[in-house]
Amino acid sequence: MSKTLVTSALPYVNGVPHLGHMVGCLLPSDVYARFMRMMGNEVLYIGGTDEHGTPSEVGAAKEGISVEEYCNGYHQRHKKTYEDFELSFDCFGRTSSDANKEMVYHIFEALDKNGMIEERTIKQIYSIDDERFLPDRYVTGTCPYCGYDKARGDQCENCTKVLDPTDLINPRSTISGSTNLEVRETKHLFLNLPKIEPKLAEWVKTREPYWPEIAYSIAQKWLKEGLQERCITRDLKWGFPVNKEGYEDKVFYVWFDAPIGYIGITKQWADANGKDWKEWWYGAKDVDYVEFMGKDNVPYHSISFPATLLGTGEPWTFVKNLKGFSYLTYEGGKFSKSEKRGIFAEDAVKEYPADYWRYWLMANAPESSDSSFSFDLFAAVVNKDLNGVLGNFVSRVLKMTESKIGEEVPAGGKNTELEAELIKTLQEHVNDYFKYMNELEFRKATNELRAIWVEGNNYISVAEPWTVIKENPERAAAILRNCISLIRIFAILSAPIMPKIAEDMMNKLGLSLKDVTSIKDFNVEKEMNALQAGHKFSVGNTLFERITPERIEELKQKYGSAK
Ligand code: MF3
Ligand code: ZN
Repeated sequence: MSKTLVTSALPYVNGVPHLGHMVGCLLPSDVYARFMRMMGNEVLYIGGTDEHGTPSEVGAAKEGISVEEYCNGYHQRHKKTYEDFELSFDCFGRTSSDANKEMVYHIFEALDKNGMIEERTIKQIYSIDDERFLPDRYVTGTCPYCGYDKARGDQCENCTKVLDPTDLINPRSTISGSTNLEVRETKHLFLNLPKIEPKLAEWVKTREPYWPEIAYSIAQKWLKEGLQERCITRDLKWGFPVNKEGYEDKVFYVWFDAPIGYIGITKQWADANGKDWKEWWYGAKDVDYVEFMGKDNVPYHSISFPATLLGTGEPWTFVKNLKGFSYLTYEGGKFSKSEKRGIFAEDAVKEYPADYWRYWLMANAPESSDSSFSFDLFAAVVNKDLNGVLGNFVSRVLKMTESKIGEEVPAGGKNTELEAELIKTLQEHVNDYFKYMNELEFRKATNELRAIWVEGNNYISVAEPWTVIKENPERAAAILRNCISLIRIFAILSAPIMPKIAEDMMNKLGLSLKDVTSIKDFNVEKEMNALQAGHKFSVGNTLFERITPERIEELKQKYGSAK
């Protein structure tokens, strides 16, 4: 059995995830993990919260609680939201865990031993009133590129340029607002990326067949521009204290320990389950590692993290395929918590079941370019694809069979050329669906799934069992039996994207997804004969609820519309 390791970028613990976060790494990684499990692979699916760094310190200070308390609270909130969204993590951990600390210390020591760590004296902003250095977001000022006056020391939110705190014009302390600042010299540790670069470049080249073009070209662009030494320590209290003499009062930079978090969280999982994390990460054989992330995270995952691992000279597992997503806009603008605009994941599942969102988001995943969410589009897809195409087919078939024959799979009758055609067309769509899933092309995959449902509708419209039954009840029985088999096929194929609805569909047929062993080599013809005549079913409730124009208006009011 081949092993597949799947990770979703670890969202910053501060702040609550909106639909853009869901579609930008969390949800597609889950769909992929579920798909790979159904293909019969051994899957380990890892997620968690990214907890270190200035945003957590600043956030906790704002709420007047300790950073630990702050992170505990938000970690739980993330965890709950992802459970509500049916994300099937094997472990949802934390970058601040002891397991991760152990991993970070080991990797740092290995890098140091291998001669990849340099000491450098740098100029940093020191706040006399706050009596401390002000790294990253602890400094606010005017962006030298666009003039935005609330730019943060690490990045300008307005023009997205990456900044150094000393670049800011009119800098002030984010903590106290004090402008009583001076530049002081301080020693820090740097990862010697130029030294790792030749090996890294060689490795990146081997990724060309696997990585989507966007990811590969981002990595190539970074390599072409030449890598610089990268500071991996910070003057902060919140973080892992640096395990090197003379640096005990500094902590590791959040982007150093965050990706190592994938390994640390695996260790959390392994420790709790009596497993060996090394089977996935260290000297591991036959592990295909696939990463999911937002586009802005691609450089860290294609360059910095692999360089960190390569620099140790140790046999780590390297990413095979990585997928970066573009952005999702909300009603034509940006999601904004502070401006109360946009629907956040924890609210979304209170309005409609997770599967509605999961389907919409996968059908509209921002893959080749940004895509936009609006309640009109959401309702249109729910009403048309889910309710109209899938839901209608299921209820129509089961109700008709129940009223004409009874609540069981009908017996008798023969198939014709029509079914041969149907099987052929379906098999083509299924093959494409699998191909796109394997290639991480989720929009296209979801399109194929929909096309598969549409074939069911086409079949029943052409076969007309309601007319045929009057003259040829045997033939009508065969048609309805085929339709019931299609419901089972639709359920199995929909499961990675809509796990709950898929299980509901299976339950109507007295079955469960748990009984499906592997969908590898999914053969439509064989699957069409999986249900025996006489097998009981129940009509049950309708699968989907239509979204009315009044509801759409209500949702727009509630969650704000575009500016
Ligand atoms: N917290 C980062 C973000 O939201 C992602 C970290 S991914 C990790 O952009 F791999 F570094 F954890
Ligand atoms: Zn700017």
